[in-house]
Amino acid sequence: MIRCALEKDLEEIYNLGNKITNNFCQTNNLKEILNDEYTKILVYEKDREIISFLMYVELEETVDILNIIVKEEYRNKKIASCLIDYLFSGLKSSVKVITLEVRKTNKAAINLYEKFGFEIINVRKKYYGNEDGYLMGRIISE
Ligand SMILES: CC(C)(COP(=O)(O)OP(=O)(O)OC[C@H]1O[C@@H](n2cnc3c(N)ncnc32)[C@H](O)[C@@H]1OP(=O)(O)O)[C@@H](O)C(=O)NCCC(=O)NCCS
Repeated sequence: MIRCALEKDLEEIYNLGNKITNNFCQTNNLKEILNDEYTKILVYEKDREIISFLMYVELEETVDILNIIVKEEYRNKKIASCLIDYLFSGLKSSVKVITLEVRKTNKAAINLYEKFGFEIINVRKKYYGNEDGYLMGRIISE
């Protein structure tokens, strides 16, 4: 089941995020995010466990995907694809473009995004410490 995150989910979200990136938001920041008007977290819940989440910022004309993470044992089962589909299906009609940043070496994520029509817009040199990042985007409407 996909739904918006609730306060009770924050610890699981934090633990999942922290496994992937060691500068992931603290639970306190996550609490602030939950109350933020623009930043949103979708969770994928299976048997009362949060197995994935997608965090994004939604402004009037743009959506920026900040994070999408699937628990290792649930990967390659279209969980991330379901979350992105869900995000796309709920977009406000005013949204014109979706953007995100990804490490140049993160083949799995780049493939996923390309599958959803995202294209590389720009290379951000040394965006991740020593590693380059791609700015990717998908136009929703002109
Ligand atoms: C990237 C990630 C979110 C994909 O989640 P997932 O649920 O396994 O992805 P899906 O099963 O929906 O796969 C959709 C497509 O993504 C691509 N993909 C997913 N995993 C892949 C892999 N290991 N290698 C290559 N391509 C991959 C494929 O194109 C796949 O489509 P296909 O199965 O028809 O070939 C997951 O690997 C993950 O959590 N990685 C660590 C966190 C991360 O890097 N997040 C992105 C940056 S914030």
